[in-house]
Amino acid sequence: MHTTDAVLDKIPFLDLVAPHVELEHELLAACRRTILTANFVGGPVVEEFEKSFATFCNVIHSIAVSSGTDALRFAIMASGVQPGDVVVTVPNTFIATTEAISQAGANPEFVDIDERTYNMSTSKLQEFLKEHCTKDSSGRLISHRSGRPVTAIVPVHLYGQMADMDAILSLAAEYGLIVIEDACQAHGAEYFSRNLNCWMKAGSMGRAAAFSFYPGKNLGACGEGGAVTTNDHNLAKKVNMLRDHGQVKKYFHDVEGYNGRLDALQAGLLNAKLPHLGDWNARRRNLAAEYASLFAENECVTIPFEPSWSSSVYHLYVIRTTNREELMDHLESAGIGTGLHYPVPLHLQKAYASMNYSRGDFPIAEGVSEEIISLPMFPQLTARQQARVAKEIRTFSGKLTSAMRAGDEEGSFVHAKSIA
Ligand SMILES: Cc1ncc(COP(=O)(O)O)c(C=O)c1O
Repeated sequence: MHTTDAVLDKIPFLDLVAPHVELEHELLAACRRTILTANFVGGPVVEEFEKSFATFCNVIHSIAVSSGTDALRFAIMASGVQPGDVVVTVPNTFIATTEAISQAGANPEFVDIDERTYNMSTSKLQEFLKEHCTKDSSGRLISHRSGRPVTAIVPVHLYGQMADMDAILSLAAEYGLIVIEDACQAHGAEYFSRNLNCWMKAGSMGRAAAFSFYPGKNLGACGEGGAVTTNDHNLAKKVNMLRDHGQVKKYFHDVEGYNGRLDALQAGLLNAKLPHLGDWNARRRNLAAEYASLFAENECVTIPFEPSWSSSVYHLYVIRTTNREELMDHLESAGIGTGLHYPVPLHLQKAYASMNYSRGDFPIAEGVSEEIISLPMFPQLTARQQARVAKEIRTFSGKLTSAMRAGDEEGSFVHAKSIA
């Protein structure tokens, strides 16, 4: 054990109690309002949240749904993607991205990620569209891998940072593809569009976007929740129907839909939290800047890369290091929580074995997945806690560097572990 301090002062990877203590009165008042008016599904509280979230994202429509997965599924279905179509995404994301594509009846195919931002590589996307697809006689873009038509791209704004949307939208326009943003980790993230010459909010650039309000997200409910954002009136209308049993009005069903609504208790809680999201995101950005300066001299740690066109909201603070497992063990024994987002890229998951991808198909995603580690990151993380995280990482790196210098190349992992 390191110090008594470590025992007393455990640092969680994510503290979900702190924001709820901060807002206790507002949250309880929101629950009372819904309970006492007994308007539990739909109604004014949900509509109020939809309006405020649309304003926050700078879009015309926000349709509240039951989860981020459903948001993505409904957005894909409503965008015109047909069953059997190919939707291109990345292997370095949560499986919900590809689950939603499959649940919409489409087939995910992957392109590799960018080595520095960990988001969709636009050069790999271009290579996929240009070299691994062909136009058929009716002008449809056909994937060589599956022989199916490619109709959409789902870039994921991973860890709170937007993918390079200008390049993705230009390629989509060139090849006639729909773009649906997976913004489930990026509430409030911004992107400087060189094409539009202005900063754009996550969720406002694609045909539609999906957000998750899973509790640990930058804007989290006290249960499940999600939203589709869009400026497309028809798409909004379709999502509205899909989330509510395909109803246009009560008991008039144009299509078969789903039970995919956000309940009013969650909407009330989200209404109470939304005004604080800007401040919470700013606190995350400050913490990220502080981590960057604390790791400035540390050669064993690669900090997140934020291009000049990006303003990340640091849903996760993901560093990269060789010796990842040993560092995680070291931090755990010092009472510091960490996360892994994600340890196995989707193309190598058992669930997708039938897709016949192999190790080596997406080398950047594979390499990154072996070296990333997510450090504590939440708005209430204190300067003292953060300094201790950095100190423990420094201690570990120092021991590792000396062990390596001692020339114990092969045994350096073991050595570092035994002296930690
Ligand atoms: C990138 C990404 N996409 C989709 C989802 C799905 O959201 P939910 O858990 O609300 O269904 C998540 C949630 O973790 C996510 O991180």
